Formats: sequence, structure tokens, C-alpha cells
Amino acid sequence: MNPIARLVTNGYSLARPLLFRQPPQAAHQALLRRLAMWDDDPRILAALRRLHALSTQHAPLPIGGTTLNFPLMLAAGFVKGEGFASEAQALHALEHGHNLIPGWRAVPTLVGQVEFGSFTRYPRLGNSGTVLWRDVPNRSLQNRVGLRNPGARAAAYFLRARREHLPPVFGINLAVSPNVSDPKQQAAELTEAADLFLDAHLRPAWLTLNLSCPNTEDDPIGHQTEALTRTLCQSLIALIQQHRQPIPLWVKVSPDLSSAQYRALIAAASEAGARAIVATNTLSRPTPDGSTTAGVSGERLFQHSLRAAAALQRLRYEMNAPVDVVACGGILDGAQWAAYRALGIYAAQVWSALIYRGPLALQTIESETYA
Ligand SMILES: Cc1cc2nc3c(=O)[nH]c(=O)nc-3n(C[C@H](O)[C@H](O)[C@H](O)COP(=O)(O)O)c2cc1C
Repeated sequence: MNPIARLVTNGYSLARPLLFRQPPQAAHQALLRRLAMWDDDPRILAALRRLHALSTQHAPLPIGGTTLNFPLMLAAGFVKGEGFASEAQALHALEHGHNLIPGWRAVPTLVGQVEFGSFTRYPRLGNSGTVLWRDVPNRSLQNRVGLRNPGARAAAYFLRARREHLPPVFGINLAVSPNVSDPKQQAAELTEAADLFLDAHLRPAWLTLNLSCPNTEDDPIGHQTEALTRTLCQSLIALIQQHRQPIPLWVKVSPDLSSAQYRALIAAASEAGARAIVATNTLSRPTPDGSTTAGVSGERLFQHSLRAAAALQRLRYEMNAPVDVVACGGILDGAQWAAYRALGIYAAQVWSALIYRGPLALQTIESETYA
């Protein structure tokens, strides 16, 4: 294993009980405040850059119509920005020099490839009250953040002003606005959101359409119909073509859908021209207090996502569909990553491992796979 990654990950596992004394939501908020400061601190950024260079071996990896420089990337939902009640408020904060997307620079500097977002066309405050839980024995999390984000316009303007400091390879994740039920309006809002990012000349290496938001009171399966997926993918791909940019579209889906539904989604996405399916988002389950439901991630999600990835992988070969599967769900160590690799899946997104294995989790997991 890479000695630097091992050192940092072992150190983190010793410090973890102390860090976990703080409730998960408070700890996450404190981390975001710290990251916002680090984004502007040249000495910290230089140290993070050095740590990344010492722990990461880059090698080009063609996946999903793009070229990654490392098989693992940080999944959406970590670097996604603050929530606002309106676009005017988000733009006002931007004009006043507020860091709208804490971690936008520090996180990719250390971790490498990041999928920013999910962003919706308009800002969202997300859900109130407790929205994040830890399940430490099962190395899992549960969240109902509810797509809190600054909205596509403010996020795109924020990143545009900093684009020379963005990492060489990053993705942008866009979500359908919850509570918008008219497919035409959904497509219009999504393409407007994508247009704002592409107009800002941000050059993401991929765009992900998040069809699966289990924490927004919407029916989590509702956005994942064949017809809607086809319409949304076609609209986004037409927009990308108008911009004459070779940016592939990926589609992120839920776990536990039926094989027939995965088949329909592959057909709709691949016929529209999407290049990868990200499997999966979180799994909706009752919260620890039983008052509502929230998305489970981490080890409790692993078998569900692995089953989804296996079904999608089998179907895409059967259907001869030109889409890759990108794994996501419950990858906390090399053995779990190896289980996806055994299916012939060579790129993955990771979130909960950052909490349970520490800041160099991606590098550690990758090197454990070959240990
Ligand atoms: C707090 C939190 C917020 C998340 N927000 C988003 C989001 O905005 N968009 C999205 O596509 N996925 C979101 N996710 C899901 C992750 O991207 C990922 O699909 C999921 O956590 C499974 O990966 P893991 O088991 O490695 O954590 C979020 C996950 C967590 C824990």
C-alpha cells in the first residue's frame, strides 16, 4: 500500500473516535467551514497538493466517454455548496465575496477527481432539522439533506470566476427540481442549468444527470421512467452539442429497481447518447427515530448497489448498449472495490469512505485492491 496513504489512514482511524464525539451534522458543518477557509489558504493548499502527489499514482483511464486520471472519484453531495432561499439571495452572497461552494478548491486538491453538485436550476435550502446520521458499527450514513444547493446560476458564476483553479478532471451533477412534475418544464430547467455551466466555459469531464433523489419527498422512482429519462437525456445532449463540447452525459440511478426498469433505463439513456450509468444513489430507509425516511449510504448500501451494478453490467452487454457502468455504493475498502472490479467495472464514486477511512480514502482503497 502507498506508505503516505497508509500513514494518513491509520492516523485517521486512531483519531476517529474523538472526531465522532461530535454529532454527524455538526461535524459536517464544522468541516465545511474549515474547507471554506482552506480554499483560500495558499499554504494549506500547497500542503494538500503535496500530500495528493505523494499518495496518488495517476494513469489515464478511458471510461464513459471521458478520460479519468484515477479510477476513484468523490461522489456528488460533498462539494455541492450552501443552500439559499432564492436566486437573488445566492447572487447577493456571491457579489459579497461569500464562498458559495465550501471545499471547491481544497477537496479536489487533496482527493483528486470530484463530482460537484447536485445542482438544481434554482437554489434550495434543503430539509430542516436533523438531516445526517451515522451508523458506526455498519460504517454507514443516512441523510436527507434534500438537495440543498445554491442553484445553477450562482454556482456557475462562482466557479467561472475561479475556473483557472478548478482541477483538470471534474464532473458536474445536475438534478431535476423536486416538485416539478411537468416533463417539459423538467427538461427546460435541466437544460437551463446545464447551459449556465457550459456558458461559463467550465469544461467538466462529464455531466451527470441525477435521476434518483430519495430525500426530497418526491417519489424516488418517479423520475426514473423510460420516457422521462429519454426526454431529459435527449434535451441535455442536444444542448451539449449546441455548445460543441465533447462532454459525455452520465445518468445516476437508484438501487433496488427491477431488472425490467434497469433495462428500460439503459435503453433510454444509451439511445439518447448517454455514455455511462452511475449505480447507485442512496437507498431510502426509515431514519433511526422512525419519524421519516432518509438515504442510506456506506456499507449498508453495498449489496444493493453491487446487485444493481451487476444487473446493469449484464444488461448492457446483452443489449449491446454503448454505456459504461460506474460503481457507487458502499466502497469502503479494497475488497468492496474488488467486488465491483470483478464485474468488469473499472471506475467508481465514493462518499461515505471519506468519513470512515479519512481524507485519503480513495487512494487507500485503490491501493488495498492490489495489496
Ligand atoms: C450527505 C450526503 C449528501 C449527498 N448528496 C447527493 C447529491 O446531492 N447528489 C447525488 O447525486 N448524490 C448525493 N449523495 C449520494 C452519494 O453521491 C452516493 O451516491 C452515495 O453516498 C453512495 O456512495 P457511498 O456508499 O460511497 O457513500 C449524497 C450522499 C450523502 C452521504
